[in-house]
Amino acid sequence: MNHFEQLNEKIYDSGVLSPELVAFMQAKKHKKIHPNRFQGFHDFLVKHDFKTGLEIGRSSGYSALAFATFYPEATLDSIDIRGRPQHLELFTAMGVEDRINIIIGDSMSIPVNKIYDYILIDGDHSYEGAKQDWQQIQSHVRQGSYVIFDDIQLTWEGAKSVAHLWKELEATLPSTSKICADMGVVQI
Ligand SMILES: C[S@@+](CC[C@H](N)C(=O)[O-])C[C@H]1O[C@@H](n2cnc3c(N)ncnc32)[C@H](O)[C@@H]1O
Repeated sequence: MNHFEQLNEKIYDSGVLSPELVAFMQAKKHKKIHPNRFQGFHDFLVKHDFKTGLEIGRSSGYSALAFATFYPEATLDSIDIRGRPQHLELFTAMGVEDRINIIIGDSMSIPVNKIYDYILIDGDHSYEGAKQDWQQIQSHVRQGSYVIFDDIQLTWEGAKSVAHLWKELEATLPSTSKICADMGVVQI
């Protein structure tokens, strides 16, 4: 069982999610906890030992949980424009509430003067929004930090999306790679 499969079991066993929601997620193979989607992410995490993380876009908290449970020593600053009360319950049930700093605000709310080993950009999926996040995190990385983009395959009719930004980064930066179909990483 890989990390994501174990995490699924723990989430389901925690009793925090209603049985209806669990059934719905299992039926839909909900991407955030569906282990197949995350095999590449798992393989990527195994190769590193991140201590400090930032994520832009927390939503239901699964990427935060994945990071915090994978690295039991690490802390994560997690920003989302919307607050969802179930986060705290889930984080507490998983024993990671002390290591996830929940920030409710837009992606401009990155704590000042902080440098991260790992940054996940998974907030505003428009081209402009993702690009602004990419520019915004530049003062929060050091050489050797990793910046992960989620949903790099996402396209919309009539508007540029994170997929367009990802293509630009791939074309201009030497240190991009894909860690799974939906996730790309840039090593700074
Ligand atoms: C795809 S979800 C994140 C999923 C989460 N990373 C996971 O894997 O479990 C995108 C989230 O980004 C948030 N978001 C969108 N624009 C944002 C912004 N400008 N600043 C902060 N959060 C934003 C939305 O509220 C939404 O919850």
